[in-house]
Amino acid sequence: MCGIVGYIGTKKASPILINGLLRLEYRGYDSAGISTVEKNGLSIMKDKGRVLNLTKLEGIDDLEGTIGIAHTRWATHGKPSPENSHPHQDNSKTFSVVHNGIIENYHELRKFLTDKGYTFYSQTDTEVIPNLIHYYYTNDKQNDTLKFLRAVRNACFDLKGSFALEILCKNYPDNMIVVRKDSPLVIGKGMGENYISSDIPAILSFTKDFYLLNDLEFVILSRNEAKFYNKDLEPIDKKPKVIEWNASSAEKEGYEDFMLKEIYEQPTAIRETIGAKFSENSKCEFENLNFTKEYLSSLNKIYIVACGTAMHAGLVAKNAIEKLCKIETEIDIASEFRYRDPLVDEKTLCIFISQSGETADTIAALKLSKEKGAKTLAISNVIGSSITREADYAIYTHAGSEIAVASTKAYTSQVVLLVILAIYFAEILELDNSYVTNLKKEILELPKKIEETLKLSEKIKEFSKKVYQEHDIFFIGRGIDETVAKEGSLKLKEISYIHSESYAAGELKHGPIALIENGVTVIGIMTDPNLVEKTISNIQEVITRGAKTLVITNQPIDTSMFDMMIQIPDTHPFISPILSIIPLQLFSYYISKEKGLDVDKPRNLAKSVTVE
Ligand code: F6R
Repeated sequence: MCGIVGYIGTKKASPILINGLLRLEYRGYDSAGISTVEKNGLSIMKDKGRVLNLTKLEGIDDLEGTIGIAHTRWATHGKPSPENSHPHQDNSKTFSVVHNGIIENYHELRKFLTDKGYTFYSQTDTEVIPNLIHYYYTNDKQNDTLKFLRAVRNACFDLKGSFALEILCKNYPDNMIVVRKDSPLVIGKGMGENYISSDIPAILSFTKDFYLLNDLEFVILSRNEAKFYNKDLEPIDKKPKVIEWNASSAEKEGYEDFMLKEIYEQPTAIRETIGAKFSENSKCEFENLNFTKEYLSSLNKIYIVACGTAMHAGLVAKNAIEKLCKIETEIDIASEFRYRDPLVDEKTLCIFISQSGETADTIAALKLSKEKGAKTLAISNVIGSSITREADYAIYTHAGSEIAVASTKAYTSQVVLLVILAIYFAEILELDNSYVTNLKKEILELPKKIEETLKLSEKIKEFSKKVYQEHDIFFIGRGIDETVAKEGSLKLKEISYIHSESYAAGELKHGPIALIENGVTVIGIMTDPNLVEKTISNIQEVITRGAKTLVITNQPIDTSMFDMMIQIPDTHPFISPILSIIPLQLFSYYISKEKGLDVDKPRNLAKSVTVE
């Protein structure tokens, strides 16, 4: 939520900042703004709406400053408006601040500052920050080089909540201060310049050397240097980390939308995620893991905790972990888990899945599990993200950067990684799983089978054209297929704004079937040979009540009763969701296109949910 970019160097800052904001727009797109250090003080340019609006503001091309901060907003406090847009300034216009996160005690701070004579022009929680910094700055009687830093540090100590901040001060025209707490921020090191961003892909074309910040580490940036301080303002040493991502993965490369590109990148994402973790005849290995038979045998339970699509990947994995490892596995939504005092102790392994690695609820759930004595394992797509640094262990999906808000390749990569993890555990536990060899063979064949599935896109487009004007679409399935129904329904809601529900097929008769009438669309997923006949009966029941039906299956079934059937390649049931979700991703995509919507940036949503 909200994207932050910064630049400090010798080039004109504004085009670099705007370019960075355009790449970060998927994090928020209600309003945008920049502040640069100009000869006559700090400039501020901001407006509601997309970053493109910002580029049209009068005077923006005349900015000469080579130091600047920028922000694209996903509104939390106060509607999108020029006043509520970032950067924000204090009353004396000495400081410019951009902020990602939420200041939970801003009412209190606003009152404190109002009592001291400060006034406010916006409804945001952020506006207290520049004023608080100003308050500490003017009350500091020492006039040394660290005065700016002390003011920022003292202000940060008063803030409750989460924040990633970039701060300019007109009295320090060659510096910028950045700090983060529970919100993402990285620094890209260049030659005689430094870049700042909420995430790596936005500045990957400039550098591959990144400083990753921990909570409450303060940085004074100049053109040639990044000086790091701990919360007591003692200098600390930090080495940059080389990030080997391909900058081109942040480009559309000829595809109309990032989402379509990312759907088509799934064979590569899966291939890269499998990597060299196993072969048909060798055991699974993870470079970063060293679990023992003794530890795994001592476990009472595995918890998988995540949000949204990542949580749906967990639902798929439950089946594989329980069957392969014989360990009870529970899946929970992070925002529920963290507040329900879950039964977690040292006999629980808690796995957290987060594409971005920055989801506030998932990070909080992880911290809670650690406090309760559990070992924690993070699965993320972003190297060095907060969740991977908090957890005892971290493993990665190698999906490449995912830009479209609706997650596609991250989901399928998470599923494959979790199933490989289940095999890894089962092999350590030395359980007799005769079908593991076949499962491994099927995993290795996935990239090829995904390519075959993608060839079905024209047929799916055809069905999408028939139903894009519908108001309600139902997804049903049983067992593993129900988890895919959930994910298919979420994808459709997110990017087409069509109301959609997913149900365990056997549940329809217990209520929801009352909603089925002439013309309602029902999508049935059936890949489990043991359950296919049962789901066909449920589909029959909705056809009888007038539903239009699309069936996705890998089973040899009679097609005559359905409006359309999509036959996908057969595979092992543990990993069938990786193939059966693809037609549903394409279905949502084509419906959204047919409706003329912005597929990559659906309304009200942002890619990385860093507030709870
Ligand atoms: C849906 C989607 C979201 C995310 C969720 C968790 O397409 O992308 O539901 O899956 O917000 O995000 P991460 O995985 O970054 O923690």
